[in-house]
Amino acid sequence: MKRIQLLLPGPVSLHPDVELSQSLPMINHRGPEFRELMKSTISKLKEIFGCDCDIALLTASGSGAVEAMVSSFVSRNEKMLIVQTGTFSDRMATIAKYLGIDVELIEPKEGEGITAEELDSALKKTGASVVGIVANETSTGVVHRNLEELAKVVHERDGLILVDSVSHLGAHELSMDVMDLDAVASASQKALMSPPGLSFVAYRERALEKMKRVEKKSLYWDLEQYKKFYDEKFETPATPAVSLIYALNKALEKILSMGLSNWIKRHEAFSKVLNGIVEEAGGRVYPKENWRSNSIVVPILPEGVTPAHAKNLAKERYGIEIGSGAWKLKEKSIRIGTMGWYESDVVYRALMFLADLYKANKELVDSFYGEYFSLL
Ligand SMILES: Cc1ncc(COP(=O)(O)O)c(C=O)c1O
Repeated sequence: MKRIQLLLPGPVSLHPDVELSQSLPMINHRGPEFRELMKSTISKLKEIFGCDCDIALLTASGSGAVEAMVSSFVSRNEKMLIVQTGTFSDRMATIAKYLGIDVELIEPKEGEGITAEELDSALKKTGASVVGIVANETSTGVVHRNLEELAKVVHERDGLILVDSVSHLGAHELSMDVMDLDAVASASQKALMSPPGLSFVAYRERALEKMKRVEKKSLYWDLEQYKKFYDEKFETPATPAVSLIYALNKALEKILSMGLSNWIKRHEAFSKVLNGIVEEAGGRVYPKENWRSNSIVVPILPEGVTPAHAKNLAKERYGIEIGSGAWKLKEKSIRIGTMGWYESDVVYRALMFLADLYKANKELVDSFYGEYFSLL
């Protein structure tokens, strides 16, 4: 099978050691080897989430973690304000509606996320007691670097803040304890460089207290069950995807041994030079400068170029697989993920691809390639 470098919005290419770790022998998920694996994985996740708190490890994709979070921390008929930044905030809203929650949406200005002032006035207007926000909107590349300020505003009104960090965790600064975030959901297949199929919800004191009062809406997504099994036995309530946990544990070991801040910097450097070359060549990128993600780059395509054409060019000529545009930008943009495992020639190939698309010369590619290393 031909190996193609994935620069998708997820899933991502894996380090060879992570790939291999999936083929370790199967173990009993009710035995001591599994308990050691769980303890080791959860303690690494605590470092990544920046929290000394409960973490549920789910055998589910990211949507499962978002559903478990909303279901466990929000009551039926409770008012939840969701910041509408793209496809994944819409998905959170749909999940909440299915669960009988009273959803209100607030859409930030074009190409931006929400500011603390805007959130505060929306809370005042709606009277919502829970806020749902996608930290890094994978469909549009809008990132919220102001989570701490947003949490402060929510807590001043005695609310809870629930964060979808699926394409954010591992690629951006996050410390739940410092930022005072109540619950954060994320998944394995993006900036944590693991195969798809696992997701997590980390949650702190306010959310834990609230969970005791929220009526149960589902058994599989009941985070109290996960807490009970982990606290009592370091196990999960149902059979977990053991091979994926091996891979996740290996990937987290790699990330932490490289240093989490260095890992984040890789994403930051890669995204900066990709955005840079497009703009320098006279093209446009989404979103506005202060709201640009480290993990998803969203070039607006030149007139007459379709996402299908651009994707084909990237794959056939430069050996990289990228994503189509999404949400309101579906027909006019592409998405390039900067996550997962890559050798540095991939940065060069991605720059060459963008130079080809935006008619930039090779000197510009060389200059941004040099800049990438200076940013690490
Ligand atoms: C921000 C965000 N939230 C939620 C999801 C849903 O995750 P999954 O497709 O793993 O269910 C995604 C997937 O791309 C995402 O990017």
